[in-house]
Amino acid sequence: MWVRIRDRAGAVVKSYDVAHEAGESVMNLLDRIRGTIDPSLAYYASCGTGKCGVCGVVVDGTPRLACTCPALGDEIDLAPLPSGEFVRDLLTINPVNRREADHRDGGE
Ligand code: FES
Repeated sequence: MWVRIRDRAGAVVKSYDVAHEAGESVMNLLDRIRGTIDPSLAYYASCGTGKCGVCGVVVDGTPRLACTCPALGDEIDLAPLPSGEFVRDLLTINPVNRREADHRDGGE
């Protein structure tokens, strides 16, 4: 499957040809890319079950949770969420993942 990473303006900034199995989520693809192709790929992940809400990305033009969004078809476009502080690739800091990170680090 071709995975294209776009910036907030819609330009393709990275693309990957990654193995894909039926039933996998977008998060599965991101984990495989980071584990086998590009360890620098940045995105946010935590629970992996759709509960914490930190893994939001834009999938083919629609904001979704990467861990619960099925990876369908032969190609997929991913982009950072349009709100929040953009960090890099698909990583943005928003109130949801800021709270999760604070909690994990022992803060409020
Ligand atoms: S990682 Fe928690 S909702 Fe996706």
